[in-house]
Amino acid sequence: MRRALVSPFRGTLQGTILCPRDKSLSHRAAFIGALSEGETSINGFSFCRDCLATLSCIRALGVEVHTFPEEGKVVIRSGGLSALREPEDVLNAENSGTTIRFMAGIASGIRGLTVLTGDESLRRRPMRRVIEPLRKAGVEIGGRGGDRFPPLFIRGKGSVLPFHHVLEVPSAQVKSALLFAALWGEGKSTIVEPLPSRNHTENMLRYVGVPLHEDHGVITVEPPRRISASSFDLPGDISSAAFLMALALCIPGSSLLIQDVGLNPTRTGFLRCLERMGGRYRVLERRKTFGEDRGDIFVEYSELVATSVEPEEIPLLIDEIPILAVIAAKARGTTVISGAQELRVKESDRLFAIARGLQSLGVNVEEKEDGLVIHGPCAFRGGTVQSFGDHRIAMSFIVAGLLGEEGVAVEDVDCVDVSYPSFFTDLGKLGVQSVTVEEAC
Ligand code: S3P
Repeated sequence: MRRALVSPFRGTLQGTILCPRDKSLSHRAAFIGALSEGETSINGFSFCRDCLATLSCIRALGVEVHTFPEEGKVVIRSGGLSALREPEDVLNAENSGTTIRFMAGIASGIRGLTVLTGDESLRRRPMRRVIEPLRKAGVEIGGRGGDRFPPLFIRGKGSVLPFHHVLEVPSAQVKSALLFAALWGEGKSTIVEPLPSRNHTENMLRYVGVPLHEDHGVITVEPPRRISASSFDLPGDISSAAFLMALALCIPGSSLLIQDVGLNPTRTGFLRCLERMGGRYRVLERRKTFGEDRGDIFVEYSELVATSVEPEEIPLLIDEIPILAVIAAKARGTTVISGAQELRVKESDRLFAIARGLQSLGVNVEEKEDGLVIHGPCAFRGGTVQSFGDHRIAMSFIVAGLLGEEGVAVEDVDCVDVSYPSFFTDLGKLGVQSVTVEEAC
């Protein structure tokens, strides 16, 4: 297990950097490749640990996967929906909630038994939210601890009953699992979302020709007989760009151009929140591919003020809340984040992990059942922070250490690879030399 030793960064952040590729879109492109007949070519694939878990799961279904990491490319050859076969062994989604939940939906349509497990963190994450709706669709499915946790078993019959499901939590992972299962439906299925969450699966399924219709949160899918393979060119990940934006916004004199960031409006709640905080950024070269917005973000040092993050915004910036909390601690005034109880069931209990970490850096923060109250601005003192094995917590506190007054040790940073394998290299490229990673004894 390695730890990061972070000294305050005394320079300014300047330059241009290509945004690391999008994890959410990479999972979806890989799964859709597996469901399509023919060759799917994916450019801009994220070779992060979570997406590698997805590739190994689809290989186990008999899909051919060729990877070209140097070129950021993956080529998938599949016989499509009807050709996916029962895996010979238990599938391991490792740390990836997206992989296990999407696989649960896909396994529902495959004839035979699929068993899904994950690492220690994933085996503590809630699964009833996918089990119950899939069971209503006639799928034989169950999980450990009275259907609460992985491992999961799914015994698919080659088709599912048409279903109508109202999501209890605004979760894009659950929504997508159900959208994938609905592809094997014996008729039209509908999913109702209480609040909008990321809509990449809808965009990408429509792009490959699946009859899918969305109207005021009601999504209707008609099962296609077959899906023909397409190609994808994926943009960068705003959830990873957020760490670099935080540095540029909080280090006086900084200005940074982050190239080719995905800007789907269901992912950009973080940008809207920064606007309210007085964050200075501009989107340049805005364009659209397969229904997904993308562009370059130019961001500069800004004098930030506090804001309130409301419950309906949470799904639109769910993964950015840890770094937003660090930014809020540097902003003038009290930031209130509410309706964020979903953060308790992510890779770690993120509300606890953020509050604990900020407190150990001397920040006045209150942990609420469903959120955080952060009193800024605060000069971060030195200390040791736990990542709880959670990639976004680790990167948030490495950023905090760079913004601080004294040295910070962030424990267990191997997890950074889960979403952003080039994080340390990218910091180096931007001239940040004050982070060293060492083996913890
Ligand atoms: C994701 C959806 C979100 C997010 C996760 C990726 C996705 O989870 O936190 O990192 O790719 O669909 P929920 O939809 O369960 O909130």
